Order: sequence, then C-alpha cells, then structure tokens
Amino acid sequence: MFPVERPRRLRRTEAIRGMVRETRVSTRGFIYPMFVCPGSGVRVEISSMPGVYRQSADKLLEECREVESLGIPSVMLFGIADQKDERGSEAWSPTGAVQKAIEGIRRAKLNLVVMTDVCLCEYTSHGHCGVIEKGEVANDATLPLLADEALSHARAGADVIAPSDMMDGRVAAIRRALDANGFTELPILAYAAKYCSGFYGPFREAAQSAPQFGDRRSYQMDPANGREALREVELDLEEGADMVMVKPALAYLDVIRRVRERFDVPVAAYNVSGEYAMVKAAVRNGWLEEQRVVMEILTGIQRAGADMILTYHAKDVARWLKA
Ligand code: PBG
Repeated sequence: MFPVERPRRLRRTEAIRGMVRETRVSTRGFIYPMFVCPGSGVRVEISSMPGVYRQSADKLLEECREVESLGIPSVMLFGIADQKDERGSEAWSPTGAVQKAIEGIRRAKLNLVVMTDVCLCEYTSHGHCGVIEKGEVANDATLPLLADEALSHARAGADVIAPSDMMDGRVAAIRRALDANGFTELPILAYAAKYCSGFYGPFREAAQSAPQFGDRRSYQMDPANGREALREVELDLEEGADMVMVKPALAYLDVIRRVRERFDVPVAAYNVSGEYAMVKAAVRNGWLEEQRVVMEILTGIQRAGADMILTYHAKDVARWLKA
C-alpha cells in the first residue's frame, strides 16, 4: 500500500511553499555591528571582512543613514581606541569614538536603536577584557570600569547597553550604576553565553583587540559546554539583564534552542565575524552562492530560536528582501 501521506504535495509551487513556510527571515530583528575609530574622514575596509569598515564617527553616521533607510532597526557600536593603557581608560572617555558616534546619531535624529558593546579589550594595551593583576584577568577590579564605560555610553545617549566581557557579576554592577544615575529605563542585552571561539579572528583585526599574551579561556566559555550556557543566562537574568545573547551562532544553534526553550526573554544570536568571513571567502572563490547560503544561515539561526540576529550581512539581506 503506497503511503497516503505525500509531503511533496505542499512543495509543488512557490505560492504553496511560501504559505506553509515556518520561518520567515525579516530585517525586523536585525542588529548591524559597526566599528568606530577616533578622528574624522576615516573609512578603512577590514581585509578579512569585505564590505565592513573601521570608520570615524562622521563616516559612520553616513552609513547609519543607509542602515536606517534599508529598514534595519538597530546598530551595535564597537569602539576602537587611539590611546590604549593598562586599564582601558579611553573606554569611558566622554570624547571617545563610541560616545561621539552616539551623539552624532542622536543629533541627526536617526530612527535607530543604538546599542553599544561594553568591554575593555579594544581599549587595553594588553588586549584583555579586564584589568590584569598578578598576571591574571581580575574579575572584581574590572567591574567598576565596565560600569563607568556603560554609564558614559548612557550619558552619550545609547538605547541599549550590551556587556560582552564575560566577567562574573558585571550585569549587576552595570545595572546598579545605571539605576543610581537615573537610567532605570535603559535595557541591558547581556552577552550571556559567549564562547571562547576561533570565529572572532576577523573581529580582532577590525577592533585591533587581540590579546597580547595568553587567551580568553579563563573568562569566555568552553565550546564544549551547553548546560553551563543555561547557568550563565540564568545568572545574567537574576542580575537584571533584559535580553540575552548566544555567541557565536552557527556552532551553537543547539544552545540558542535550549536558551529559547528555557527562558521567556528575548534571545539574540551573534553571527560573528569569522562566520561572515568564511562565506565571503567562499563566494569570492566561486564556491558558494552568496544570497542562497546567507539566507539559509540566517533562516537556521532564526529557526533555532533567535528573536534578534547580529549580522554583518544585514544590509545585503535588507536589499535582497526589498528587491
Ligand atoms: C569583545 C567582543 C568580541 C566580539 C564582540 N565583542 C571579540 C572577542 O571576544 O575577542 C566578536 C564579534 C565578532 O567576531 O564578530 N569585546
């Protein structure tokens, strides 16, 4: 007896396939990551990330106008420092690159949710995400510095604060500092499950933030651990995070799914620099079809359970969806 069920019936035409499609990729949840450096008139393409630039606040503003016009709701700003020191003090300078960029976007009244990455690695001479004491990345001594950085972003006009350093207790420290200074309404998106990943390579070129000694294994998570991600998310939520992130995305789709199922808060996934670079390199070689694989990747991340996706492909996808 031939089976009565024939799944192919619903695959016969694009119209039917479109109607029964379970996951519809949309730019509505997109966050476009951008790199801002000091100075003016600077715009340098990052060699391992074609189409992505390190740029000064004035140039960044021009690209932000484009991002807005493409219907992408949000940007995530990463700062790059001229003056690096042991403590990363440019991170909380009111005249730092990120602070200036936020002010520019606010002045231009762009309709963008401006998120800022809070971390010290782009600002420290040693490239670690916290201060060094006795040769180690010191957790508690780093917390007030992160709180100062977050506060300076808030004062410049940021809409969402996103700590990515992976120090224990940083969400609580930042929440307390924000609340004590009248920013009780400012949400925190915690990089809660951030793995120690080889896929951050191109980002470190972009942000000039590679650690000068050792690695990040003592603070970023071991790629082998899934349950620990749930613990990290739970702690960040207890400390006051409003939204949580899983990062990177592709080797961690199971983690996105588990976080989505366990917690009723918005979940973001970071389609990181190395994931972008792999696609771009293969496309340049004629080995992959760009639009097809990018849409497949983003569909997969959304299907896994991400409400929001940070992706360097955001502008391309917005153009494809409009066409
Ligand atoms: C740390 C930070 C990193 C990324 C975002 N925030 C790099 C790191 O932890 O070394 C990586 C993002 C990407 O690879 O696209 N501030």
